Amino acid sequence: MPEELNEKIKLAVEILAKAKNAVVFTGAGISAESGIPTFRGEDGLWKKYDPEEVASIHGFRRNPRAFWEFSFELMKKTSAEPNPAHYAIAELEKMGIVKAVITQNIDMLHQKAGSKKVYELHGSTEKLDCLDCGKEYDREDFIDFLQKMEPPQCKFCGSMLVKPRVVLFGEPLPTKVLYGAIEESRRADAFIVVGSSLVVYPAAELPYIAKSNGAKMIMVNYEPTVADHIFDVVIYGKAGQILPRIVEEVKRIKRFS
Ligand code: APR
Ligand code: ZN
Repeated sequence: MPEELNEKIKLAVEILAKAKNAVVFTGAGISAESGIPTFRGEDGLWKKYDPEEVASIHGFRRNPRAFWEFSFELMKKTSAEPNPAHYAIAELEKMGIVKAVITQNIDMLHQKAGSKKVYELHGSTEKLDCLDCGKEYDREDFIDFLQKMEPPQCKFCGSMLVKPRVVLFGEPLPTKVLYGAIEESRRADAFIVVGSSLVVYPAAELPYIAKSNGAKMIMVNYEPTVADHIFDVVIYGKAGQILPRIVEEVKRIKRFS
């Protein structure tokens, strides 16, 4: 690895080895190496699909089929497995360095990799709700529809407006999750962003909250973001390669301290 990258990894390792309350904040980029497409950047999903049509609450109410076709496209990949970046973060939690993971992703790969405290700012596909009669469902209730890649229909009122509990554009974030994530960001002494373009609010506010409360800031992303200037260390690269390197070095330091 080039000298400059080694230097940056060393800085990140020093910050993490001293951290008592580190928080990791992730976006779609951390799941890219698990085969799940990101939204922005070169071949991002928003280049192919109109988010207003397939990922907004107004679009969903107008035409749920467009949302489901987009989701089935994604779901074909979302049986994905965690990659080394997810496992590295779970390892940092086991070592008592990372206290919480705040993710914008709905793929549940952090939990699959062993992370315990995960704030899912944009929800997940575990639960679904009928927007017409309010009936709550588990994902298993519709496994037949989902396996056939057919839009689910409410078993109670017949409505086609059955929506997974993911946050679409135009919807509020789950309040309890957001407040918890804000609290974790305020308390963090180290805040690591992995694989996010930091352009979607209110999620993108959290690094600024951590920074203004004195956290040491580390960014690991494939390309520059609008927020790079607030970070103490900015490492451009693939999370699946960089994160395990950082964790191995932290473990080495901890062993000898
Ligand atoms: N390793 C690290 N970073 C990566 C990798 C990788 N292997 N692959 C891509 N990236 C970076 C990209 O360069 C990009 O900056 O990850 C970032 C992903 O940014 P987005 O696609 O904008 O995803 P995200 O920041 O999570 O989007 C936030 O927008 O569309 C909504 O609700 C959706 O939760 C999503 C939110
Ligand atoms: Zn219903």
